[in-house]
Amino acid sequence: MNERVLVTGALGCLGAWAVKAVLEDGDEPVGYDVGDATHRLELILSREERERLTLVRGDITELEALGRTLDEHGITRVVHLAALQVPFCRADPVLGAQVNVLGTVNVFETVKERLDRIPGVAYASSAAVYGPGDPSPAPESGGTAPATFYGVTKQANEGTARLYWAESDVPSIGIRPYVVYGPGRDQGMTSGPTQAMAAAARGEGFAISYGGVAQYDYAPAVGRAFVTASTAPAGAVVANFPGVRASMAEVVAAIEVAAPEIAGRITFEEAPLPFPAELQARALEEAIGPLPQPSLAEGSGETIERFRGLTA
Ligand SMILES: NC(=O)c1ccc[n+]([C@@H]2O[C@H](COP(=O)([O-])OP(=O)(O)OC[C@H]3O[C@@H](n4cnc5c(N)ncnc54)[C@H](O)[C@@H]3O)[C@@H](O)[C@H]2O)c1
Repeated sequence: MNERVLVTGALGCLGAWAVKAVLEDGDEPVGYDVGDATHRLELILSREERERLTLVRGDITELEALGRTLDEHGITRVVHLAALQVPFCRADPVLGAQVNVLGTVNVFETVKERLDRIPGVAYASSAAVYGPGDPSPAPESGGTAPATFYGVTKQANEGTARLYWAESDVPSIGIRPYVVYGPGRDQGMTSGPTQAMAAAARGEGFAISYGGVAQYDYAPAVGRAFVTASTAPAGAVVANFPGVRASMAEVVAAIEVAAPEIAGRITFEEAPLPFPAELQARALEEAIGPLPQPSLAEGSGETIERFRGLTA
Protein backbone atom coordinates (compact mmCIF):
# COMPACT_ATOMS: atom_id res chain seq x y z
CA MET A 1 0.00 0.00 0.00
CA ASN A 2 1.26 3.49 -0.80
CA GLU A 3 2.19 5.86 1.99
CA ARG A 4 0.13 9.03 2.34
CA VAL A 5 2.56 11.74 3.37
CA LEU A 6 1.46 15.04 4.92
CA VAL A 7 3.87 17.86 4.02
CA THR A 8 3.20 21.00 6.05
CA GLY A 9 4.43 24.16 4.32
CA ALA A 10 4.07 22.37 0.97
CA LEU A 11 3.89 25.66 -0.96
CA GLY A 12 7.35 26.67 0.32
CA CYS A 13 10.71 25.89 -1.22
CA LEU A 14 11.54 22.75 0.78
CA GLY A 15 7.88 21.78 0.87
CA ALA A 16 7.72 21.65 -2.92
CA TRP A 17 10.92 19.58 -3.09
CA ALA A 18 9.61 17.23 -0.38
CA VAL A 19 6.39 16.77 -2.37
CA LYS A 20 8.49 15.89 -5.43
CA ALA A 21 10.47 13.31 -3.41
CA VAL A 22 7.22 11.73 -2.19
CA LEU A 23 5.97 11.47 -5.79
CA GLU A 24 9.28 9.97 -6.92
CA ASP A 25 8.81 7.27 -4.26
CA GLY A 26 5.42 6.45 -5.80
CA ASP A 27 3.65 7.64 -2.65
CA GLU A 28 0.80 10.12 -2.22
CA PRO A 29 1.58 13.66 -1.02
CA VAL A 30 -0.96 15.78 0.86
CA GLY A 31 0.16 19.39 1.24
CA TYR A 32 -1.01 21.45 4.21
CA ASP A 33 -0.34 25.18 3.86
CA VAL A 34 -2.05 28.40 4.90
CA GLY A 35 -0.85 30.25 1.81
CA ASP A 36 -2.03 30.40 -1.78
CA ALA A 37 1.22 31.00 -3.69
CA THR A 38 1.60 28.09 -6.11
CA HIS A 39 4.57 29.48 -8.08
CA ARG A 40 7.12 27.18 -6.41
CA LEU A 41 5.04 24.08 -7.19
CA GLU A 42 4.82 25.28 -10.80
CA LEU A 43 8.59 25.78 -10.95
CA ILE A 44 9.49 22.43 -9.37
CA LEU A 45 6.74 19.96 -10.35
CA SER A 46 5.51 18.97 -13.80
CA ARG A 47 1.80 19.43 -14.57
CA GLU A 48 1.32 15.68 -14.16
CA GLU A 49 3.06 15.75 -10.77
CA ARG A 50 0.90 18.68 -9.62
CA GLU A 51 -2.21 16.70 -10.51
CA ARG A 52 -1.07 13.94 -8.12
CA LEU A 53 -0.76 16.40 -5.19
CA THR A 54 -3.71 16.92 -2.84
CA LEU A 55 -3.57 20.42 -1.35
CA VAL A 56 -5.36 21.30 1.87
CA ARG A 57 -5.60 24.99 2.81
CA GLY A 58 -4.97 24.89 6.54
CA ASP A 59 -3.26 26.69 9.39
CA ILE A 60 -0.71 24.78 11.48
CA THR A 61 -1.77 26.76 14.55
CA GLU A 62 -5.21 25.10 14.45
CA LEU A 63 -4.97 21.81 16.31
CA GLU A 64 -8.37 20.43 15.35
CA ALA A 65 -8.03 21.23 11.66
CA LEU A 66 -4.65 19.53 11.58
CA GLY A 67 -5.93 16.40 13.31
CA ARG A 68 -8.95 16.28 10.99
CA THR A 69 -6.64 16.47 7.97
CA LEU A 70 -4.52 13.57 9.26
CA ASP A 71 -7.66 11.45 9.55
CA GLU A 72 -9.61 12.54 6.47
CA HIS A 73 -6.60 11.72 4.27
CA GLY A 74 -5.49 8.61 6.16
CA ILE A 75 -2.03 10.11 6.64
CA THR A 76 0.74 7.57 7.39
CA ARG A 77 3.81 9.87 7.56
CA VAL A 78 4.43 13.50 8.49
CA VAL A 79 7.03 15.97 7.17
CA HIS A 80 6.66 19.24 9.08
CA LEU A 81 8.17 22.26 7.30
CA ALA A 82 5.64 25.09 7.80
CA ALA A 83 7.31 28.02 9.55
CA LEU A 84 8.02 31.72 9.37
CA GLN A 85 11.64 32.48 8.44
CA VAL A 86 14.01 35.01 10.07
CA PRO A 87 12.65 38.29 8.59
CA PHE A 88 9.01 37.31 9.18
CA CYS A 89 9.68 36.33 12.82
CA ARG A 90 11.56 39.61 13.30
CA ALA A 91 8.66 41.60 11.84
CA ASP A 92 6.01 39.80 13.92
CA PRO A 93 7.45 37.79 16.85
CA VAL A 94 4.00 36.90 18.19
CA LEU A 95 2.91 35.32 14.91
CA GLY A 96 6.39 33.77 14.58
CA ALA A 97 5.97 32.05 17.94
CA GLN A 98 2.43 30.94 17.12
CA VAL A 99 3.42 29.36 13.81
CA ASN A 100 6.86 28.01 14.69
CA VAL A 101 6.43 27.01 18.33
CA LEU A 102 2.71 26.32 18.78
CA GLY A 103 2.44 24.90 15.25
CA THR A 104 5.16 22.35 15.98
CA VAL A 105 3.59 21.39 19.31
CA ASN A 106 0.34 20.82 17.39
CA VAL A 107 2.11 18.49 14.96
CA PHE A 108 3.58 16.42 17.78
CA GLU A 109 0.29 16.41 19.68
CA THR A 110 -1.74 15.18 16.71
CA VAL A 111 0.84 12.51 15.82
CA LYS A 112 0.93 11.35 19.46
CA GLU A 113 -2.75 10.43 19.14
CA ARG A 114 -2.11 8.43 15.95
CA LEU A 115 1.11 6.47 16.58
CA ASP A 116 -0.64 3.28 15.46
CA ARG A 117 -0.67 4.73 11.92
CA ILE A 118 2.12 7.36 11.83
CA PRO A 119 5.65 6.34 12.93
CA GLY A 120 6.65 9.81 14.17
CA VAL A 121 7.65 13.24 12.88
CA ALA A 122 10.33 14.58 10.52
CA TYR A 123 10.59 18.33 11.17
CA ALA A 124 12.72 21.32 10.22
CA SER A 125 14.95 22.86 12.80
CA SER A 126 17.69 25.21 11.53
CA ALA A 127 21.36 26.14 11.78
CA ALA A 128 19.93 29.33 13.33
CA VAL A 129 19.81 27.50 16.67
CA TYR A 130 23.52 28.43 16.79
CA GLY A 131 24.89 31.90 17.46
CA PRO A 132 28.15 33.60 16.53
CA GLY A 133 29.61 32.55 19.91
CA ASP A 134 29.33 28.84 19.14
CA PRO A 135 32.53 27.11 17.93
CA SER A 136 33.11 26.18 14.30
CA PRO A 137 32.54 23.45 13.38
CA ALA A 138 29.51 23.70 15.65
CA PRO A 139 28.77 20.59 17.73
CA GLU A 140 25.82 18.55 16.58
CA SER A 141 24.48 18.54 20.15
CA GLY A 142 23.00 21.97 19.35
CA GLY A 143 23.23 25.70 19.90
CA THR A 144 23.49 27.64 23.12
CA ALA A 145 22.44 31.21 22.33
CA PRO A 146 20.64 31.73 19.00
CA ALA A 147 21.26 35.14 17.44
CA THR A 148 17.72 35.55 16.09
CA PHE A 149 14.21 35.20 17.48
CA TYR A 150 13.61 32.67 14.71
CA GLY A 151 16.51 30.61 16.08
CA VAL A 152 14.90 30.70 19.52
CA THR A 153 11.70 29.25 18.06
CA LYS A 154 13.67 26.49 16.35
CA GLN A 155 15.46 25.69 19.60
CA ALA A 156 12.02 25.41 21.20
CA ASN A 157 11.07 22.90 18.47
CA GLU A 158 14.06 20.74 19.40
CA GLY A 159 13.01 20.84 23.06
CA THR A 160 9.45 19.98 22.08
CA ALA A 161 10.69 16.93 20.15
CA ARG A 162 12.90 15.83 23.06
CA LEU A 163 10.03 15.96 25.53
CA TYR A 164 7.47 14.30 23.24
CA TRP A 165 9.94 11.40 23.00
CA ALA A 166 10.77 11.32 26.72
CA GLU A 167 7.20 11.64 27.95
CA SER A 168 4.98 10.32 25.15
CA ASP A 169 7.19 8.00 23.00
CA VAL A 170 6.77 10.11 19.84
CA PRO A 171 9.94 9.49 17.79
CA SER A 172 11.32 12.24 15.54
CA ILE A 173 14.15 13.38 13.35
CA GLY A 174 14.82 17.11 13.24
CA ILE A 175 17.07 18.37 10.45
CA ARG A 176 18.97 21.67 10.67
CA PRO A 177 19.58 23.00 7.16
CA TYR A 178 21.99 25.95 6.86
CA VAL A 179 21.79 28.04 3.64
CA VAL A 180 19.28 26.28 1.41
CA TYR A 181 19.73 27.15 -2.27
CA GLY A 182 18.08 26.00 -5.47
CA PRO A 183 14.83 26.47 -7.39
CA GLY A 184 12.08 27.86 -5.16
CA ARG A 185 14.38 29.52 -2.59
CA ASP A 186 13.04 33.02 -3.10
CA GLN A 187 12.49 34.36 0.43
CA GLY A 188 14.32 34.55 3.76
CA MET A 189 17.56 36.06 5.09
CA THR A 190 19.84 33.71 3.13
CA SER A 191 17.96 33.62 -0.18
CA GLY A 192 20.50 36.00 -1.82
CA PRO A 193 22.62 33.34 -3.59
CA THR A 194 19.53 31.79 -5.23
CA GLN A 195 18.19 35.22 -6.13
CA ALA A 196 21.57 35.90 -7.75
CA MET A 197 21.16 32.66 -9.77
CA ALA A 198 17.71 33.81 -10.90
CA ALA A 199 19.16 37.19 -11.91
CA ALA A 200 22.02 35.46 -13.74
CA ALA A 201 19.49 33.39 -15.71
CA ARG A 202 17.94 36.70 -16.86
CA GLY A 203 21.40 38.07 -17.75
CA GLU A 204 21.35 40.49 -14.81
CA GLY A 205 23.64 41.19 -11.84
CA PHE A 206 22.63 41.00 -8.17
CA ALA A 207 23.83 42.36 -4.80
CA ILE A 208 23.96 39.66 -2.06
CA SER A 209 23.48 41.11 1.42
CA TYR A 210 25.96 38.93 3.33
CA GLY A 211 29.33 37.23 2.94
CA GLY A 212 31.73 34.98 4.84
CA VAL A 213 31.86 31.20 4.87
CA ALA A 214 28.75 29.04 5.33
CA GLN A 215 27.38 25.63 4.34
CA TYR A 216 25.23 25.40 1.23
CA ASP A 217 22.45 22.81 1.04
CA TYR A 218 20.87 22.00 -2.33
CA ALA A 219 17.08 22.21 -1.91
CA PRO A 220 16.22 18.97 -3.79
CA ALA A 221 18.63 17.01 -1.56
CA VAL A 222 17.20 18.60 1.59
CA GLY A 223 13.60 17.87 0.54
CA ARG A 224 14.59 14.26 -0.14
CA ALA A 225 16.27 13.98 3.29
CA PHE A 226 13.10 15.10 5.10
CA VAL A 227 10.98 12.52 3.28
CA THR A 228 13.45 9.70 3.99
CA ALA A 229 13.64 10.81 7.63
CA SER A 230 9.83 10.57 7.94
CA THR A 231 10.04 6.81 7.34
CA ALA A 232 12.52 6.10 10.13
CA PRO A 233 12.20 8.40 13.12
CA ALA A 234 13.87 6.87 16.19
CA GLY A 235 14.31 8.53 19.55
CA ALA A 236 14.60 12.31 19.33
CA VAL A 237 17.39 12.75 16.78
CA VAL A 238 18.41 16.27 15.77
CA ALA A 239 21.02 16.48 13.01
CA ASN A 240 22.79 19.09 10.95
CA PHE A 241 22.48 18.79 7.19
CA PRO A 242 25.80 17.74 5.61
CA GLY A 243 26.03 20.61 3.12
CA VAL A 244 28.90 22.03 1.09
CA ARG A 245 31.24 24.51 2.82
CA ALA A 246 31.88 27.58 0.69
CA SER A 247 32.91 31.22 0.93
CA MET A 248 30.68 33.76 -0.79
CA ALA A 249 33.47 34.33 -3.33
CA GLU A 250 33.24 30.61 -4.19
CA VAL A 251 29.44 30.84 -4.49
CA VAL A 252 29.75 33.76 -6.91
CA ALA A 253 32.45 31.92 -8.88
CA ALA A 254 30.14 28.89 -9.23
CA ILE A 255 27.36 31.12 -10.59
CA GLU A 256 29.77 32.79 -13.01
CA VAL A 257 30.84 29.40 -14.43
CA ALA A 258 27.21 28.64 -15.31
CA ALA A 259 26.48 32.20 -16.54
CA PRO A 260 29.79 33.72 -17.76
CA GLU A 261 27.94 36.63 -19.38
CA ILE A 262 27.23 38.19 -15.94
CA ALA A 263 30.81 37.80 -14.64
CA GLY A 264 31.72 40.67 -12.30
CA ARG A 265 28.10 41.79 -11.83
CA ILE A 266 27.25 39.77 -8.69
CA THR A 267 28.44 41.62 -5.60
CA PHE A 268 28.24 40.76 -1.90
CA GLU A 269 28.65 42.37 1.50
CA GLU A 270 31.56 41.21 3.64
CA ALA A 271 29.54 40.68 6.87
CA PRO A 272 29.14 36.96 7.65
CA LEU A 273 25.91 35.36 8.88
CA PRO A 274 25.47 35.30 12.68
CA PHE A 275 26.11 31.54 12.79
CA PRO A 276 29.32 29.42 12.91
CA ALA A 277 30.89 28.96 9.46
CA GLU A 278 30.81 25.16 9.67
CA LEU A 279 28.62 22.57 11.38
CA GLN A 280 29.50 19.03 12.41
CA ALA A 281 27.19 16.83 10.36
CA ARG A 282 27.39 13.09 10.89
CA ALA A 283 24.15 12.16 12.65
CA LEU A 284 21.79 12.49 9.67
CA GLU A 285 23.57 9.99 7.42
CA GLU A 286 24.00 7.69 10.44
CA ALA A 287 20.24 7.84 10.95
CA ILE A 288 18.90 7.66 7.38
CA GLY A 289 21.79 6.53 5.16
CA PRO A 290 23.92 8.26 2.50
CA LEU A 291 22.68 11.60 1.14
CA PRO A 292 24.18 12.08 -2.31
CA GLN A 293 24.24 15.72 -3.38
CA PRO A 294 25.80 17.86 -6.06
CA SER A 295 28.80 20.15 -5.83
CA LEU A 296 28.07 23.86 -5.60
CA ALA A 297 28.97 24.25 -9.29
CA GLU A 298 26.58 21.46 -10.29
CA GLY A 299 23.76 22.72 -8.05
CA SER A 300 24.17 26.31 -9.24
CA GLY A 301 24.26 25.17 -12.87
CA GLU A 302 21.07 23.10 -12.51
CA THR A 303 19.32 25.97 -10.71
CA ILE A 304 20.24 28.51 -13.38
CA GLU A 305 19.11 26.08 -16.10
CA ARG A 306 15.71 25.74 -14.43
CA PHE A 307 15.35 29.52 -14.10
CA ARG A 308 16.33 29.90 -17.76
CA GLY A 309 13.47 27.54 -18.61
CA LEU A 310 11.16 30.09 -17.03
CA THR A 311 12.42 32.99 -19.08
CA ALA A 312 12.68 31.01 -22.36
N1 LIG B 1 15.37 27.97 3.59
C1 LIG B 1 16.38 27.77 4.41
O1 LIG B 1 17.54 28.16 4.17
C2 LIG B 1 16.14 27.07 5.71
C3 LIG B 1 17.23 26.86 6.55
C4 LIG B 1 17.02 26.23 7.76
C5 LIG B 1 15.74 25.80 8.10
N2 LIG B 1 14.69 26.02 7.26
C6 LIG B 1 13.37 25.56 7.66
O2 LIG B 1 12.85 24.67 6.69
C7 LIG B 1 11.43 24.82 6.59
C8 LIG B 1 11.03 25.13 5.17
O3 LIG B 1 11.72 26.29 4.73
P1 LIG B 1 11.41 26.95 3.32
O4 LIG B 1 12.66 27.57 2.84
O5 LIG B 1 10.70 25.97 2.45
O6 LIG B 1 10.39 28.10 3.78
P2 LIG B 1 9.32 28.94 2.93
O7 LIG B 1 9.23 30.28 3.59
O8 LIG B 1 9.65 28.87 1.47
O9 LIG B 1 7.96 28.13 3.14
C9 LIG B 1 7.26 28.09 4.34
C10 LIG B 1 5.83 27.68 4.05
O10 LIG B 1 5.13 27.59 5.31
C11 LIG B 1 3.82 28.08 5.09
N3 LIG B 1 3.21 28.54 6.33
C12 LIG B 1 3.49 29.67 7.03
N4 LIG B 1 2.67 29.80 8.09
C13 LIG B 1 1.86 28.71 8.07
C14 LIG B 1 0.79 28.29 8.91
N5 LIG B 1 0.39 29.02 9.95
N6 LIG B 1 0.16 27.14 8.60
C15 LIG B 1 0.53 26.40 7.51
N7 LIG B 1 1.52 26.77 6.67
C16 LIG B 1 2.19 27.91 6.96
C17 LIG B 1 4.00 29.24 4.11
O11 LIG B 1 2.79 29.59 3.47
C18 LIG B 1 5.08 28.70 3.18
O12 LIG B 1 4.50 28.05 2.05
C19 LIG B 1 11.05 25.91 7.59
O13 LIG B 1 10.69 25.30 8.81
C20 LIG B 1 12.34 26.67 7.76
O14 LIG B 1 12.39 27.34 9.00
C21 LIG B 1 14.87 26.63 6.07
